[in-house]
Amino acid sequence: MEYYLGLDLGTGSIKTVLFDADGKEIAQSVLEYPLYQPHNGWSEQDPEDWYQAAVSTIRDVMEKSGVPKEEVKGLGMSGQMMGAVMLDKNGQPLRRAILWNDGRTTESCEHVRQIVGDDLFMKYSCTPARPGLTAAKIQWVKDNQPKLYSQVAHILLPKDYLRYRLTGEYATEVSDASATQILDVPNRCWSDEIMAAMDLNESMLGKVYESQEITGYVLPEVAVAAGITTKVAVVGGASDNAAAGVGTGIVAPGRAMTTIGTSGTVFAFSEKPVIDQNKSVYTFCMPVPGAWHFMGSVNSAGASLKWWRNNFYPDDEEYEEINKDAIASNIGANRLIYLPYLNGEQSPHFDLTCRGSFVGLAAIHTKADMTRAVMEGVTYALRDILTGIRNTGIEPENVRMCGGGSKSPFWRQLMADIYGLPVCLPDMNSENSAALGAAILAAVGCGAYPSVVNACDSIIKMREEVYTPDPELTEFYDKVYAEFDALYPKLKDNFRSILAL
Ligand code: XUL
Repeated sequence: MEYYLGLDLGTGSIKTVLFDADGKEIAQSVLEYPLYQPHNGWSEQDPEDWYQAAVSTIRDVMEKSGVPKEEVKGLGMSGQMMGAVMLDKNGQPLRRAILWNDGRTTESCEHVRQIVGDDLFMKYSCTPARPGLTAAKIQWVKDNQPKLYSQVAHILLPKDYLRYRLTGEYATEVSDASATQILDVPNRCWSDEIMAAMDLNESMLGKVYESQEITGYVLPEVAVAAGITTKVAVVGGASDNAAAGVGTGIVAPGRAMTTIGTSGTVFAFSEKPVIDQNKSVYTFCMPVPGAWHFMGSVNSAGASLKWWRNNFYPDDEEYEEINKDAIASNIGANRLIYLPYLNGEQSPHFDLTCRGSFVGLAAIHTKADMTRAVMEGVTYALRDILTGIRNTGIEPENVRMCGGGSKSPFWRQLMADIYGLPVCLPDMNSENSAALGAAILAAVGCGAYPSVVNACDSIIKMREEVYTPDPELTEFYDKVYAEFDALYPKLKDNFRSILAL
């Protein structure tokens, strides 16, 4: 039998899963690493922590599975997006990585926008300059740490740093590179014009591969430490959202998925690199040659519920009490609305200065109402993205759900009711879809399947259970959603002035 490793490099932890060639899970291992927040809104990690956790979890799954190491043929990585890892000419990190949810880049985003110009960003990255994307982070280091920046020889995305440590290769792939704002998304290569404007070049950014292509092989010292062989092929892999897209089979028109992890995303397949004229969702390369996807993310989706749990249900590790309380409250949380902007927001506001709120709080409200409001508020924010995707002309038939949030049956039904669409789940541990997507890319790269679409068609099956929207509830939620949607424009100046106090 042949086996494939899927590594999902998340914000809270890395999850490594060993799959057989039919996509069956054999063993998994998870390790957490610290998140550094040296200033309000900053978010950093130490790339060395990722590498150590990757090696330990690979060793762990190999030991747990008992699979002979010679039978592991390929490895794919799914990575947290939009970060910046800066290395010197010897490949040593010059500073901690700046992550996707870092809030320091409002000014540097405006600066890079002036340098590159709206036209080039729209033409190549298919989106206006956005503070959460990698280009603004590069500009921040240039503007604020010029001495350090003068030593930068390589700039990598988080999973691509891991690739460098595993294989010695400086490389990336189309789906994750789409969110740097330096990729020519329609043509799936670095944009010479954006690189020239930002004074970057391909040798700094690494070679761009398609996601299923082999980018290198595991280095001898890594193979020994991780308990695998040097014959393991490391393929391009994908951004975590795109990997989850592959792992849930979003490889044909009409298909869409939602993942709820730390962030939450709505993601839909597109046959063409169409630009969203409303500028509320991204157009990125799909890890399928010749295909693209629309996506948008809520920064604090699972992160909202985790924040709520940490403060008010500290012992509820499995979110059981939380789910019970949410069910015990009423639809609309008894007229209480939560805005999930704990850490600024991406789509559709792209505002790092907005913050979370409970609106409509009354003396009748209980902890259970607030819990339900958190889950509903995250889902309204996701619906904002679904609306953005619908505005591009795409009308999904249903939504496949994955990520940690998909473990909650209550949340599945809530999503169906708030989206007004049936919600279904892959027939596997739906929280492992990104790792499966990465392993599928490895299996395709190693020749086990002729294409990503063929592999998804063979491997991904959906569960029979479908969460169907209840029209009465959807009608009510439509009204609350309209109220939710009206709040951000009214509050945004206050969010900004409160932060400046
Ligand atoms: C992407 C996003 C996150 C990151 C972190 O828009 O917000 O999903 O990929 O995992």
